Parts: sequence; structure tokens; C-alpha cells
Amino acid sequence: MIILIENANQLITLQGTKKKARIKEEMSNIQIIENGSVLISGDRIIATGTKASIRADYPELVSQAKIIDATGKVVMPGLVDAHTHLVFGGTRENEFQMRLNGATYMDIMNAGGGIHATTKKTREATFEHLYEKTYEHLNNFLKHGITTVESKSGYGLDWTTEEKQLQVAKKLQENHVVDVVSTFMGAHAVPAEYKNNPDAFVDIIINDMIPRVAEGNLAEFNDVFCEKGVFTPEQSRRILLAGKEHGLIPKIHADEIEPYEGAELAAEVGAISAEHLLVASDKGIRDMAEAGTVAVLLPGTAFFLKADSARGRLMIDEGVPVAISTDFNPGSSPTISLPFIMNLACMNMGMTMEEVLTATTINAAYAINRGHEIGSLEASKKADVLILDVENYQQLQYFYGMNHTHTVIKNGRVVVE
Ligand code: NIG
Ligand code: FE
Repeated sequence: MIILIENANQLITLQGTKKKARIKEEMSNIQIIENGSVLISGDRIIATGTKASIRADYPELVSQAKIIDATGKVVMPGLVDAHTHLVFGGTRENEFQMRLNGATYMDIMNAGGGIHATTKKTREATFEHLYEKTYEHLNNFLKHGITTVESKSGYGLDWTTEEKQLQVAKKLQENHVVDVVSTFMGAHAVPAEYKNNPDAFVDIIINDMIPRVAEGNLAEFNDVFCEKGVFTPEQSRRILLAGKEHGLIPKIHADEIEPYEGAELAAEVGAISAEHLLVASDKGIRDMAEAGTVAVLLPGTAFFLKADSARGRLMIDEGVPVAISTDFNPGSSPTISLPFIMNLACMNMGMTMEEVLTATTINAAYAINRGHEIGSLEASKKADVLILDVENYQQLQYFYGMNHTHTVIKNGRVVVE
């Protein structure tokens, strides 16, 4: 099938030749074409340009194309959500009420709630129930313009349930139009059974779970919640290096609640990304800039936990490549609205609207090792395209808390219209 999108008020391509996540002023260079066109054949982009140039250069293809008129609209790459805890049982609105009354996130977790509460529900849930529920979440992501979602396990904390979560993600990758990219996060919490001997649980992750994940080809990444009272930097280092030996790329939940040298550790082990980073140190930020570690920042989590956001402005100025994601999960960020999170990045982290677009497309794609495939509109990349019912890209953030998605094209097919 050949599709020609024409007459876009603004076509934001985020094109660029550099084969890495973007840093500093590169993050502002979003590449706007007025009266823009995107020519698509099969699941790939053939070309982008002005209406006149595409019609002149590809007369054959244009003559066969289904035309989508984007008059008055913005066209951009499908959004990429590089950090979610997608597959989970139950919900935790009761804890939201407790936090509104003054309890902290860690108090609730230490009292057996939080991740432990969701682990209980996820262990109890059937594969079919989790599959159907997650399918609905993906539909909702797609309606908001997100075409690729990273998915972390970590609500099993035993092999049977971790595997169940990973298999749900795998089946969804096969059956749902949204691309699901899998991360193993067995080290999300120390399960109650190992409360008095956390190192024994770390050993199980290293000696039992990681080899099985790799053998079954169940994930590409390996993530750890490195946090006081959860996993220490030393335990996190062991888990991440063990994963690396089995071909799992390290990611890390770092410096979310208390500073713990998580950013430093991410740089040290060659993690592709460090995530959260609310209280990352100056040195950690410099280390990440030097190592090229992508900072996946989650201002929705800061908002929902009533915490100060990560220092996104400083990170960009220091040369860290920044991505922005939802952290969708039932405790600290129960939203799939990446557009709302984008607004928070502007409001609470001092990022510009252009930087935020880069952070949710091409840089998010690099955070999940997909920068060569998605995240920008350029020849030979996947045809994942979003048409927004706004006159210019600034309106996407200015009219906040709304869904401006008009049309979504995924793998060259119209899937939302
Ligand atoms: O990224 N910080 C750890 N994990 C999640 C929250 C998970 C949960 O509360 O269920 C996060 O915020
Ligand atoms: Fe998270």
C-alpha cells in the first residue's frame, strides 16, 4: 500500500544524520517543513519533503498513492514511550488516598504495599487476564499517538510470574499493532520471602532468572531498582553485569528517591539508559554525559509523588541525551498520556517544546536501541507517523491535558483515524 500525506501545516521530521541520541542544541533542531509531505510504501518511509518536491520526484508512486490530507495539521513521528511497567494485576487507588493523607511512597512499600501489593495481584492473575488488560492499555497508548512502548517485568519476583509477564509482552508484540520492547526487571523489589536475606534473592536473579530470560529470548534489557532499602549499588552492579554476560543490555532505575550514586553506576557499567534521576548528583550527570548514557526522565512520576522533578535543563546543558517517558505503572504513574507528561517536562524541568519533541521521539528510540528504525521521519525508517489536530507543534503542549491525535499510521497502515 502506498500512502501520501500532504499539505501538513508543519511536518516535523526530526531528521538527522547522526547515529546517536541527540545532545545539547541538537535537541532543539526538530527540522520543520511547511506544507510538508510524507511518502510511504509498505511499512517504510520513502521520502519526506515539500508537496512540490515529492510530486516532482516520485510521480509514479504518487499516482498510485492513497492521499491523506493534513491541511491545518501537524505531522510528526509516532511517539515512543521508553519506560513503562506495562503488565500488571490490580490497581492501587487506595494508596493514592493514603499518600494524599500524608503517607510516603516508601512507607507504603515498606509496609507491604506498593510494588508488593501489585506483585500479589500479578501472581494471582491468569495469563489471559493480564493479556486482555494490557491489550486495552496498548489501545489507549495508540489513541494518544504512541506507537512503540517499552515494557518492564518486575511484578512477579518469582520466575513463574516474571515469565508470565514477559510472555504476555511477547504475545502482545506479536498480536498488537503497537511495538512492545521487553525489559526484564526481576530486581524491582526484594520479595517478602527474602526480606531477611536479600543477597539470596540477588543470587536467584543472577544464577537462575537471567539465564532463563536470555535462553528464552524474553527480553533485550535488564533493569534494577537501585534505591535505599531496595537494591544497593553493589547488588545492582552484580545484577547488571550478569545480565550483560547473557547479552541483556543494562538499564537502571537510579537516584529516584534518595541519592545513591545510581547515575554513576549507569555510566560505569555502560548502561544504555538511567531512568528517573530525580536526585542524581552533579558528578553522576557528568559521568552520564561522558558515557553517552541516555537519561530517561519521568516528570509524571515526580508530579504524582509530589516530588521535585529531575534536573532536565541541567542535564541537557551538560551534554546528557535526554528522553521523556510516562513510567506507566499502577503506583507512581498511572497514566498512558505521554502528551501530558510532555507538558510537565516543559513546566517542571525547564525543557523547551522542541527539546521535549526530541526527547519523546528520536532520543526515546535510542534509549531502547531502536534509533536506527524509528523516532524520526526519514527515508527507509519505519512508517510510524502521527497526525495531530493542532496548527503548530507548540499547541500540542499549550492545549495541555487533551488528546490531539487525529490519525496514527503504524507500519505504513492507518490504525487510528
Ligand atoms: O518506576 N520505582 C520503581 N518502580 C516504579 C514504580 C512501581 C510501582 O510503584 O508499582 C517506578 O516508579
Ligand atoms: Fe519505573
